[in-house]
Amino acid sequence: MKSFYITTAIDYVNGSPHLGHAYEKVLTDTIARFRRQMGDRVHFLTGVDEHGQKVQASAKKKGIPPQQFCDEVSEEFRALLPQLNISNDDFIRTTDERHKKVVRAVLQQLFDQGEIYKAEYQGFYSTRQEQFLQEKDRLEDGTWPEIFGEVSEIVESNYFFKLKQYQAWLVDFLATNENFIFPAYRQKQVQEFLKEPLNDLCISRPRERLEWGISLPFDDGYVTYVWFDALLNYYSAVVDRPEIWAEAHHVIGKDILVPPHAVYWPIMLKAAGISLPKGIIAHGWWMTRGAKMSKSTGNALNPLDLVAEFGTDAFRYFLIREMNVGQDSDFTREQFLVRYTSELANNLGNLVNRTLNMTTRFAAGVVPAAEVGAGEATGAGDLEKVLQDLWTKTRDEFIPQCEGYQFHTALERVMVFLTETNAYIEKRAPWKLGKSTEAKDLALLRTVLATIAEALRLAVAAVQHVMPSTTEKINAVLGYTPGAVWRDELTWGSKLTGAKVAGALVLFPRPAPPEKAPAPVKAG
Ligand code: ME8
Ligand code: MG
Repeated sequence: MKSFYITTAIDYVNGSPHLGHAYEKVLTDTIARFRRQMGDRVHFLTGVDEHGQKVQASAKKKGIPPQQFCDEVSEEFRALLPQLNISNDDFIRTTDERHKKVVRAVLQQLFDQGEIYKAEYQGFYSTRQEQFLQEKDRLEDGTWPEIFGEVSEIVESNYFFKLKQYQAWLVDFLATNENFIFPAYRQKQVQEFLKEPLNDLCISRPRERLEWGISLPFDDGYVTYVWFDALLNYYSAVVDRPEIWAEAHHVIGKDILVPPHAVYWPIMLKAAGISLPKGIIAHGWWMTRGAKMSKSTGNALNPLDLVAEFGTDAFRYFLIREMNVGQDSDFTREQFLVRYTSELANNLGNLVNRTLNMTTRFAAGVVPAAEVGAGEATGAGDLEKVLQDLWTKTRDEFIPQCEGYQFHTALERVMVFLTETNAYIEKRAPWKLGKSTEAKDLALLRTVLATIAEALRLAVAAVQHVMPSTTEKINAVLGYTPGAVWRDELTWGSKLTGAKVAGALVLFPRPAPPEKAPAPVKAG
């Protein structure tokens, strides 16, 4: 069994989780579930980033000690996970002793190796991004880009990590590991960034400025810079399990790729003699009216409201179906409703209803066996073969699409298959066949019932990593227990022959009309 280690970014606990955080969890969970289905031994880590200026300031504003503040907000982040049906194996907090211990050990090692030195620091700091800025980060008019929020100048004596001396190594590493960062255009951006000389990285803050952090093991007048601390979570969580670490993949947002994940992190690991992760997946942003959704700007949606209204799986489906991993997407309720209605309620929901209804009505609730050539025998052509061929093509395409994180395209293909299955039902009109007394019509009727049940079973297996509980529910009403090997579930066959189906299942109920200003919902 191959190991596969996947992580999310760890969220700052300076405010409640929003749609952007939920998306990252759902995307990572989709990858984790897909890899498990493919037979990998998956380890899935998520957690929270609790130190730093931003969290300290939020605690102060609330008038409570930072640890208490972190305990409260971290619980909110942790509670979100089951609501989104996230299958993480571990949850790390940077205030965990297991983490702090590793951070101190790595710092001490780098200090002993002479990779860390003390010097005067003068520069600019963005608390919102917890990032040291440089002159070149300014806009042309001299102001700082909006994403940095309030920027302050700092002059203080600090510790520095010798980043610069690894620049040539990193350039070389990226040149020889072309697929280190997904999407590929992001790797190009990192390579562009590395065309300018790097500065050494300031990794400390004097305790009188920042209390809330991990003390430097070699000078407790200082705490560790929050990014140096936070990045190490991926490693500290599995420090005793090298076989897991060796297969690390990080899912993060594009805002924290350069420089933290693509520059600081590989260099920190290289300097400490720790192997590098296998890959970094940088997703885009959920926006509202063209602006990034964020805690700091107050334009963020609460994912739990959508989950409460539409259910976990519909929410997961929308996020994965709508977003092309890497790019940005505007979140609108209208678009959510369009997909919910046309793809989930109409395409999938209808097929479920029709399958259950007709099997109950025409076959006493037991899925009959298909009869090869039944369509041709009635002179109606072999539409069954056409649908089976479409399935095989769909399956052959969607596995590589999922392996390449193109989950939105994979879902789109499954939707096309569902549309075609519903169209097949219209063409075969089993309700007419059911009125016939001719043996060949009844043979075709049995074949149609077998065909749509099988099509549904396959489509549902194909969306399992995105809508795990919907898949479970549908399998249950089909009277079906899938086998242990997911790939074996994807071949058109007769696994449902003889299965006893349930009478009905309500899956994606029509949403209640909005209380005010009802907007017309376009289907399709
Ligand atoms: O950056 N759309 O934490 P964070 C999509 N603690 N993703 C979004 C988003 C949006 N509108 N807003 C935020 C941090 N994210 C650090 C990470 S990792 C060692 C330390 C994503 O709470 C963001 O890109 O600001 C990041 O990957 C994650 O949410 C946490 O953001
Ligand atoms: Mg952020």
